[in-house]
Amino acid sequence: MPAWQTRLASLELFIAEEDQTIAGFIGFSLDGHIDLLFTAPGCARQGVASTLYATAEQRLRATGVRELHTEARLVAQAFFAGQGFSAEQAQTVVRDAVILPRMLMGKTLEPL
Ligand SMILES: CC(C)(COP(=O)(O)OP(=O)(O)OC[C@H]1O[C@@H](n2cnc3c(N)ncnc32)[C@H](O)[C@@H]1OP(=O)(O)O)[C@@H](O)C(=O)NCCC(=O)NCCS
Repeated sequence: MPAWQTRLASLELFIAEEDQTIAGFIGFSLDGHIDLLFTAPGCARQGVASTLYATAEQRLRATGVRELHTEARLVAQAFFAGQGFSAEQAQTVVRDAVILPRMLMGKTLEPL
């Protein structure tokens, strides 16, 4: 919990709720890094992550950010590709001795 509190304290967070239950959340920093994006399993494929992402992108645009990046797990790559991100570099990260593949992905925000 302390590690999560430290990590979350450095991020902007938007939380999606339905019937007072958390449906998903996004955490990002104002340098354009999308750090966390999760949808509750029971709310998957209902547009929760899309809505959270659109809200975060709007916030980042408003602060003048032009370059976005994220390290997407395999399950999230199709989602981010659908939001206009391009794959930039395959990476691996070790969590509790488990090696997880992920993809560094980026997006340039064009002027509206
Ligand atoms: C990735 C994740 C955030 C997507 O959340 P979601 O709320 O289900 O996404 P949406 O409903 O907004 O999906 C929008 C589109 O993204 C794509 N998409 C989303 N999940 C997908 C999946 N599992 N496989 C393929 N495409 C997917 C689809 O094109 C989808 O549109 P469609 O449902 O009309 O086909 C969710 O699956 C999740 O929490 N995964 C586990 C955590 C994770 O890996 N987070 C990323 C860390 S960077």
